[in-house]
Amino acid sequence: MAPSLLYPKISTPTPSIIHSEGNYLTTSDGRRIFDASGGAAVACLGHNDPRVKEAILAQLDQTAYVYSPFFTVPAAEEIASFLTESTDGKMERVFVVSSGTEAIEAALKMARQYFTELREPQWQRTRFIARKQSYHGNTLGSLGTGGHKVRRAIYEPILAQNVSHISPCYPYRDMKEGESEDDYVARLADELEAEFLRVGPDTVCAFVAETMSGTTLGCVPAVPGYFKAMKEVCDRHGALLILDEVMSGMGRTGTLHAWEQEGVVPDLQTVAKGLGAGYAPIGALLVGSRVVDALSNGTGGFIHSQTYQGHPVACATAVAVQKIIREEILLENVRVQGQYLGELLTERLAGHPHVGDIRGRGLFWALEFVKDKAIKRPFPAEEGIAQKVHRTGLEKEHCISVIPGAGVADGVNGDIVQIAPAYNISREEIELIVTRVEGVINDVFGAQ
Ligand SMILES: Cc1ncc(COP(=O)(O)O)c(C=O)c1O
Repeated sequence: MAPSLLYPKISTPTPSIIHSEGNYLTTSDGRRIFDASGGAAVACLGHNDPRVKEAILAQLDQTAYVYSPFFTVPAAEEIASFLTESTDGKMERVFVVSSGTEAIEAALKMARQYFTELREPQWQRTRFIARKQSYHGNTLGSLGTGGHKVRRAIYEPILAQNVSHISPCYPYRDMKEGESEDDYVARLADELEAEFLRVGPDTVCAFVAETMSGTTLGCVPAVPGYFKAMKEVCDRHGALLILDEVMSGMGRTGTLHAWEQEGVVPDLQTVAKGLGAGYAPIGALLVGSRVVDALSNGTGGFIHSQTYQGHPVACATAVAVQKIIREEILLENVRVQGQYLGELLTERLAGHPHVGDIRGRGLFWALEFVKDKAIKRPFPAEEGIAQKVHRTGLEKEHCISVIPGAGVADGVNGDIVQIAPAYNISREEIELIVTRVEGVINDVFGAQ
């Protein structure tokens, strides 16, 4: 029978997974694939955790669904409190949605509403400044905010025109020879300042950035002082700072919130993937007091809602996941094993002629591939190197899943793969990941 499911490449079914347990995915043709990427940096507890399943069943027994504009449930209250308390109250309220994209859409709309709650002339604020080589989701609003050239390309004519893009913080390619980190940060802050002035500082709602960039740039930690400098520019012009931690948040970089390592607090923050660890679709928008106060003292509510927001089963899932992360002190493991992963990748692969850069933080690492290492020349996009590494990894000789990404160098060319394993990974499993990844790379490029 012809398949009905629309696969990413319509004519090619993706491998079918018939069971998943811990770090392993079992395919219908008998491969046991080590999930070194948690899907797309999602499955942070590994697969098939009985405690999470139990929490899901308990919630189903209690209440499967309520419409959140009418009713609340204890699990929704609990996950919201957990999140605000985890910021020491720096973020004051939480709006629970079903994905990262939805969290970003909510953030953009809330930023706009914030300024409509203030008196004229703040109403003129309709613009956003984001970064090139960024990703914030795939609906029209979130895609229009991101700077992912290839994903935007055919939709460009129907994307909103109120977003402009400045350079990301990407020292491997963009820091000049002999430039200090401080000078690089100052140059990027000047670029943001110039963009505010170009579009009109009093027309900008917010600057939007991934605290640690995800698949579009590949696990690049910001240069020290970068976010402080960017926030200063936002503050000077009265604009909000929106930090997108859909991929980098909820512990992935070694602290529950990636911004804790950057010395800034956002006005709005999005989280998703690690929040529910893949056991249920869930994302959230965390809202700081400046915005909460404006809405409370203005119209009194957020002019936005969706049928499945605050879904009880998703909330109960997230409560269970976050309890396990806290009780098992897993973020300590993220920091320790993450450092080991970085060291081992560097030891084994830094000398490879096609591995240009190895970067990351916590359990969030990327390898950037280059055709010519001396001049950092990327492979042409047509060669599909990242996809090739991903596909080769899934073959029975390797059995490892990593996340491919392309366009890092200039939006079109430039390949990476990301490694983002579960937070409870062991030292031996880190060694297994690096050994298998090394094997895949040697297979794709030929042993060096
Ligand atoms: C930084 C970032 N923002 C937003 C999104 C969109 O999230 P979702 O795919 O859950 O809609 C992603 C997804 O990869 C992401 O990495």
